[in-house]
Amino acid sequence: MKRIGVLTSGGDAPGMNAAIRAVVRKAIYHDMEVFGIYNGYQGLMEGKIEQLDVGSVGDIIQRGGTMLYSARSEEFKTDEGQNKGIEQLKKFGIEGLIVIGGDGSFQGAAKLTAKGFPCIGIPGTIDNDIAGTDYTIGFDTALNTIIEAVDKIRDTATSHERTYVIEVMGRDAGDLALWAGLANGAESVLIPEKDEPFENVVDRLKRGSERGKKHSIIILAEGVGSGFDYGKKIEAATSFETRVTVLGHIQRGGRPTGADRVLASRLAGKAVDLLLEGQGGRMVGIQNNQLVHHDIIEALKQTHNLDMSLYQLMSEISI
Ligand code: F6P
Repeated sequence: MKRIGVLTSGGDAPGMNAAIRAVVRKAIYHDMEVFGIYNGYQGLMEGKIEQLDVGSVGDIIQRGGTMLYSARSEEFKTDEGQNKGIEQLKKFGIEGLIVIGGDGSFQGAAKLTAKGFPCIGIPGTIDNDIAGTDYTIGFDTALNTIIEAVDKIRDTATSHERTYVIEVMGRDAGDLALWAGLANGAESVLIPEKDEPFENVVDRLKRGSERGKKHSIIILAEGVGSGFDYGKKIEAATSFETRVTVLGHIQRGGRPTGADRVLASRLAGKAVDLLLEGQGGRMVGIQNNQLVHHDIIEALKQTHNLDMSLYQLMSEISI
């Protein structure tokens, strides 16, 4: 394979730039040409494609976002859209494609693969919700953003003796909420994977207050429902003054952590190796700190499993 393409798609994630950089540099090191495809699959269909050289990916390793921009494309979900994409790839003489993104992006890569175009998926999403990998690019940075924000909220929560409901991202996956709950010493964590009876949450708040606790933190994943509604429910059921903070898209930006930069570089290196071997239809991942790869279509059929032992530990600690 002599000429490959790279694109980022779906919600951006800190560390995507480090992945693009590693794809471009490693491919060039191995005498391949690399073309950047801008604005995800939308840009692919529109032919927003440009050759990248070593210098094009300079000074991006430390930046959040993605220098290739991103998009969520409805049109690419159609047969027609995918054919348009393949036409563009052929027009530029691109023989293999690396897609950095979440499961929506992997669906696109699987569709292209099924049409005979070799694609490799690199998991990049703050949600950490991709099967076949223990971690996705951006999860660690987003987690650390939440930790910093909750530490700050805790200061004011203590000063005013308030209860806080903090809504974090995670449409279908509770990883960010759960990990942040553990790292921030929250009283309760509400995640889509586990139903937590409201009475348990209230009981924990009351027990804490009776012990003389000055503040309480509840972390809720957006997939569970509105943080504002939950805050109102708490205030109605207790005498505790409650405030709600929705962290929102702040979680998607910022300088990637060291862990994300290294993960992104390793996964990208592996993706290039697979294309060099002539493989397609794979996703790369990290499991037990080993780089792995799986059939992308099979991986999409699996669901990501949250580590429930962390939830159990959380319940044992936040008594
Ligand atoms: O998939 C990543 C994610 O940040 C989710 O956690 C969140 O629900 C969603 O993207 C938000 O998407 P958008 O930026 O399109 O509103």
